[in-house]
Amino acid sequence: MKHFLDLSDAGGDAIAAMLADAQDRKAARAGWPKGKPDADEPLAGHVLGMIFEKNSTRTRVSFDVGMRQLGGTTLILDSGTSQLGRGESIADTARVLSRMVDAIMIRTDDHAKAEELARHASVPVINGLTDRSHPCQIVADLLTMVEHGKALPGLEVAWLGDGNNVLHSILEAAGIFKFNVRVGVPKGYEPDSEFVEMARRGGASVTVTDDAREAANGADIVVTDTWVSMGQNHAHNKIAAMAPYQVSKKVMELAKPDARFLHCLPAHVGDEVTEEVFEGPQSVVFDEAENRIHAQKSILLWCFGKLGG
Ligand code: CP
Ligand code: NVA
Repeated sequence: MKHFLDLSDAGGDAIAAMLADAQDRKAARAGWPKGKPDADEPLAGHVLGMIFEKNSTRTRVSFDVGMRQLGGTTLILDSGTSQLGRGESIADTARVLSRMVDAIMIRTDDHAKAEELARHASVPVINGLTDRSHPCQIVADLLTMVEHGKALPGLEVAWLGDGNNVLHSILEAAGIFKFNVRVGVPKGYEPDSEFVEMARRGGASVTVTDDAREAANGADIVVTDTWVSMGQNHAHNKIAAMAPYQVSKKVMELAKPDARFLHCLPAHVGDEVTEEVFEGPQSVVFDEAENRIHAQKSILLWCFGKLGG
């Protein structure tokens, strides 16, 4: 069963195959209406069930339209209107959905719920974001880096801000593709050491520093994310601690002249990034957002055994 709960479920060869497929499909359908299926319709007749226990725009739309482009369809369950919201167990939900859909995507808080779903499902389960990780986002981010001419091995990636789920998946990718990550983060908000160690074991160099300038210095890619993730309290002391890690023009000037700025979105412009950088020439955030659909399709194809790796 090809579950995609974290990047390591797929591994380097499969992710490389996803990136190649995503680039090919993106090029092949340039200029087509968004609703027109890809010529080969490889997932014709397949249904993806999507469970949302948190808000989403990009993940929801990219999986939905991505499935249609692959010839399939989707349905959405949210906790407000499904029996999950009235306490039906994850295990029973997994077994019921497995009889009716061909794959399940879940966006939830506790990663253990996604793991439990995968344990009880007899169809592939995809992590559409948990408090621990956001692997689908990082496939799109890697695609964006490659498209912008950045070869992954040896790349210098600077992360500024909160040590959160998106950073965890970047660290996982760093270990797989051997790029280096410099994390500029206030004390007390560091990423889980499990992910730092995972990256280092894979051969990546990882620096965790509370010096934002040290993190940004000489970077090829500068990345940030919201300071307050879904489900977290909007604590004033956290916002105050994050302020020195805002990505500003000064920060971008420390990076390489051809560095790119990434943000998974949604952004809080004026907090983690200035408007000047967000709207500026180094920002590729809307390419990155578009790439969610191309990446999602390649993840789905891998889960359905239709890609190498
Ligand atoms: N980046 C991302 O996952 O966006 P959504 O929360 O809108 O899905
Ligand atoms: N870290 C953010 C990512 C949103 C796509 C969150 O979890 O809310």
